[in-house]
Formats: sequence, C-alpha cells, structure tokens
Amino acid sequence: MATSSLSNTYDSEEFRRHGHELIDILADYLRDATSRSDMPVLDYREPDELVSEFDFDNPANRNLPLDGFIRKVIANMNHMHHPRFVGHQNTPPLTAGVIAQMCTTLLNNGVAVYEMGPASMAAERNVIRYMARLIGFGADADGIFTHGGSAGNLTGLLAARQAMSEYNIWEEGVRHDRPVGIIVSDQSHYSISRNAKVIGLGGRSVIRIPYDSRYAMSTGLLQETMQKAGEQGIRVICVAANACSTSTGTYDNLEEIAAFCRENRLWFHVDGAHGLGVLFSDKYRHLVRGLEHADSVVIDFHKMLLTPGLNTMVLFRDGRRSYETFAQKAGYLFEKHDGNEWYNGARRTLECTKSALGIVAWAVIKYYGGETLGNYVDSRYDLAKRFGEAILHTGGMELAVTPESNIVCFRYAPEGIAADKLNDLNRLIRKAVIQSGEFYLVQTELEGNIWLRTALMNAMTDDSDLERLIGTVKRYGGELAGTLT
Ligand SMILES: Cc1ncc(COP(=O)(O)O)c(C=O)c1O
Repeated sequence: MATSSLSNTYDSEEFRRHGHELIDILADYLRDATSRSDMPVLDYREPDELVSEFDFDNPANRNLPLDGFIRKVIANMNHMHHPRFVGHQNTPPLTAGVIAQMCTTLLNNGVAVYEMGPASMAAERNVIRYMARLIGFGADADGIFTHGGSAGNLTGLLAARQAMSEYNIWEEGVRHDRPVGIIVSDQSHYSISRNAKVIGLGGRSVIRIPYDSRYAMSTGLLQETMQKAGEQGIRVICVAANACSTSTGTYDNLEEIAAFCRENRLWFHVDGAHGLGVLFSDKYRHLVRGLEHADSVVIDFHKMLLTPGLNTMVLFRDGRRSYETFAQKAGYLFEKHDGNEWYNGARRTLECTKSALGIVAWAVIKYYGGETLGNYVDSRYDLAKRFGEAILHTGGMELAVTPESNIVCFRYAPEGIAADKLNDLNRLIRKAVIQSGEFYLVQTELEGNIWLRTALMNAMTDDSDLERLIGTVKRYGGELAGTLT
C-alpha cells in the first residue's frame, strides 16, 4: 500500500492482511532482538541524516509500502528487547500488554469520561484497588491513571498544593505574600522541581535537602531544613521522597519521612515511578516500608511493571484528595457538578482525552500476575548486585554506590589517568559503545563526576552480557585513553 484512500482504509480484509504482515514483522524482530544475534542494540545515525531518511521527498520513500515503512522504523529505533539494552528505564513490554494496547489503539476511545471508554474506567478502578491493597492503603484510597510519571508527579503536587493551602488557591492563584515550599531530595527526578515551578510555586519553593553516602535523602536534616525555610518566610507544605531515585536507584527512608510529615502535618508525596515494582517482591518490599503513610504515590507501570508506555498510576491514601485537586468546570463533559464520580476520570487529571491505560495495566496484572512480576523484580535487583560486585573486583573500574535496585553506576578509572580526564574519557567510552551497537547504556553526573549508568530492565540480560559489558568498556577505555590531550 503506497497511499490509502479513506474509502478502503476501513476495509476489514485489507486491515487483516496488513495486521498479519505487521505481526509477522514484529515476531521476526522479537526473534532477532532477543537471540543475541548481530543485530545492533541501536543503529546510531546522526539526527540530520535520519531526518533525510524520513523526508517525504526522499526517492526511497516515494513508493514505500506500509510494511517497508514498518521495517524502516524498526531499523532506526532503539531495541529494548535486546539483552544488551541496559540504558534508560524503558522496558521491553510484556506481549499481553502490547496486544491489549493494539486493541485499545484501534478502538481509540478518549477516556475523559466514562462513556468514552467504559471498559477502561472499570479496569482502571480494579487495578487501582489492587495496587492500593498492595501498598497497605485502607478502603478510602483512590487514584487515577495518567500519561507518565512526570504528569503523575504534577498531579500529586497539585493535590498537595490544594490540600495544604490556607486559601482558595485554585481560584485566587498563588499568593506571593504567603510563599510555600516543598522539600525535595537533591536526587529527585527533575519533574518534581519542574512541576513545583509549573504550578506557580516558583524556584524558591523547591527546598533541596542534601543526600547521604547512599544518595538517599538525609532525613536527619529535615527539621533543620524546614526551620531554615521558615526563617526565610517559606511555609513548608510537602516532602517529596524517592522510591527509588533516578540516577542511582536509591530508596529514601520512607518510614522516617512519614513520621516527620505526620508530626509536622505535611503532605507526604512518594515518587515511586521507577522503584515500586518492589511491591510485588517478598524479598525487596522492605525497601518501601512506610509507603502506606504516603498521601500521594506515583507508580510507572511502563518501567518496572513491564507495561507498554505510557502508563502511570497516581494513588491517594485519602481518595477525596483526588477529587479536590482539579475543581474544573466543563459542562459539556460532566452532567453533574457534585458527587465523586470515579468513572469520569477527566475530573481528576490534567488530561482530557486519555488512552485506555487501565485496560493495558489490567492485562499485565491478569496475564502475568503478582508472582511473575515479583520474580522479575527480584531477578533484576539480584543481577544488579552481582554486577556491582563484578565491577568492584575488576581492576580499573569504580562503582559509584552499592546498587539497591536494578540501577548501577560505574566508570572506567584506571591508574595513570589524571582525575580531571576521567569525565571526558567516560563520555567518550559511552559514545563509542553505543555507536558500536554492542550495548546501549547511559550516563549520569554525581558530584561533578560522570558515571556510566545501566538500568537492568530487560529480563533476558544475564551475567554473561554484563561481563561482556565490562570487557567492552575496558577495551574502548584502553583505546580512547591515549587520545585524550
Ligand atoms: C523517579 C522518577 N520519577 C519520574 C520520572 C518521570 O517519568 P516519565 O518518564 O514517565 O514521565 C522518572 C523517569 O525516569 C523517574 O525515574
């Protein structure tokens, strides 16, 4: 099919043919990507070169059939299914989730209100109840799905702002004579501080608390931090904790933060976008002890719950907070303006039209179950620990911090290379490794130092892959060290 007219695009037989072709292409892709074949993890091309590749006027695109286009897309994307994809916190999604999402994509309900996606709201409600029980929330808990952890954190902080304001902030806007503040870990995801600014609290409202040697929030400094803010005229309303942090995968001490928030009547927000897969793990659940006291919690299903993205849940211990967050009037959508209509989701999110996220999350939980998800989390966290050990025992390599989750930060730092050259060297190593297509990994900066960073998301990555990664990093490191001036 070079181009398609509207008259035949809905032809069921044509769709069946293209659909079967697509599944065949994707199944071949899965076979190649998961089999440690020669397929590059990422066939890196410079951005401008790829723009020309997709130029409508490029002769190669003139008669490009749909299946050719799909193959071209696959060739020019990063391959999460490859066991040597160890980069960002993106997941090779479980196939039942993918199939559910293919279905919801075709049905294309814009789940703002119940009538525009009844099954999605019903599925969403059940997944919310399921997750609330796992956390240990009571019957009053409620939540809502949203597109991504950044939007989830925004929803949580808006709820905090609404609940903790001493005036009608929704109508009056932020009053600069009564500034409020949010205590955030210096290791929090940037969406926390960005969102504090987005909701009008201003840069001053973001009160960063130092981290300890694990890169966890120094909870011993909470009292002093709040007092100092008070001396500057800022009333602290919320503490936002990490479960776990993005850079190093470290868990803040939620029990201590919860106790502090309770004593000081503060909103307790937990950004668990990455690390709340541990709710399914008997072995690692202890890392989030105290989570049940949180006022708002964010969980990305599209990270450690192996769900196609974006798919995020925001949960509130007291579900009423979810209904107060957005006091929006939209007469054409909502028939009544009172009552907690859980089924009209747009009342409680930033978004109006929303994908059928509940159906996809439901499929993942139903067709894999808590035990499988828990085993997956255990295996990735255990693997990260072994990888950390292997780095410690390899000459010329350094580990930033003992891994607590599936995130590991390390660098090539052999003797004889000046400390001020190490950042450039590790940047160059990363670039060489990803351009070789052998692995995809990322980097992070901690206290001015560049570290190579892996998030072990792929269930097929094993010790032999990571052993090979160490060898690859050392090989490029050795070659590149000589090029540094
Ligand atoms: C701890 C944490 N919070 C929030 C986010 C943002 O999530 P999203 O990319 O789904 O917007 C991330 C993303 O990496 C994260 O690691």
